Amino acid sequence: MQPTLLQTSALRRLHLPEAARKAWLRDALALTFPDPGDLTAWRAFVDASVELANRHLPADAAAALAGFFAPESPEDPEGLLIENLPVDPDPPKPPADGKRPASKTAVSESVIAGLIEGHAAIVSYINEKSGAPIHEITPVAGSEHTTSSAGRVPFACHTDAAFLAPRFSPRGLLLYGLRNEPRAHTAILPLDRILEAAPPSLVRSLEKPIFRHPSPSSFQVAAAVIAPIIWRDNQGLARIAVQTHAVQPVNEEAREAIAQLRALLDTLETERVVLGPGDALLFKNDRVLHGRDAFTGERWLQRAYFTDSLKPFQERTGAPCNAFVFDAAQLL
Ligand SMILES: [Fe+2]
Repeated sequence: MQPTLLQTSALRRLHLPEAARKAWLRDALALTFPDPGDLTAWRAFVDASVELANRHLPADAAAALAGFFAPESPEDPEGLLIENLPVDPDPPKPPADGKRPASKTAVSESVIAGLIEGHAAIVSYINEKSGAPIHEITPVAGSEHTTSSAGRVPFACHTDAAFLAPRFSPRGLLLYGLRNEPRAHTAILPLDRILEAAPPSLVRSLEKPIFRHPSPSSFQVAAAVIAPIIWRDNQGLARIAVQTHAVQPVNEEAREAIAQLRALLDTLETERVVLGPGDALLFKNDRVLHGRDAFTGERWLQRAYFTDSLKPFQERTGAPCNAFVFDAAQLL
């Protein structure tokens, strides 16, 4: 298994050998998707899934995955694409109601949980997709024209859950291809490319708390916070949170900065990935923006959010120690 590291790419690409895919698929088909509300059953499913990932991922893929989840270092890619992972052999039609079909086998969910939970923790919000740990990303009847994960219209590069406090927004995302007949692209854009191209005056404005971040339409909670778009963490590393299409200015400087940022994003080349069945794309939510083109036809991805530790979430909300679903209204 030869990793192909693209020059100047933020994305490391790996391809699972066919023998490993078949063996992993056979084992994952033996698992049953649990009721995620039953925390004991969910934990058992996750533990079994991690064991399968450990058993079937070749050493170089396991090392790349560990590197991706490790604390940031300049050598590690901020995005990872693993192709040819197992998918359910006979999946149902994409769910037009946005809910997991009960008839679906648990192969993709097991791979998603197995890739994440050996290194990080899946996190979800009760206000989005009813707190499901793994989201169905497919056009939802009545929402096709919304700029959201339920739509078909173009979705400009953004970060997810930008309205939450940084430590409570997803640290990263895993997108998993189940079906992509239109071969619609997923676009990613590393923050560092924005910082290289942005004039210093724009970066200074983006670092000021002069932006209103409303909750996105996918969340059943009406909230907005005033915060910067870009900030520095304890190590001085730049981070970003923005819904580029929905962020609002609180003053004239912010209005100009949003216009400049949107214009700049239009000029920057994104990395474009077609997520076909069995392709997993992982990236850091506050270091890499993502978006997609408009599309027609059947497209069904699954998505999971992950975080380093659920402890801060549990401490803030008073949730029990094995809980992974939280109320976004308590995490602003
Ligand atoms: Fe998104």
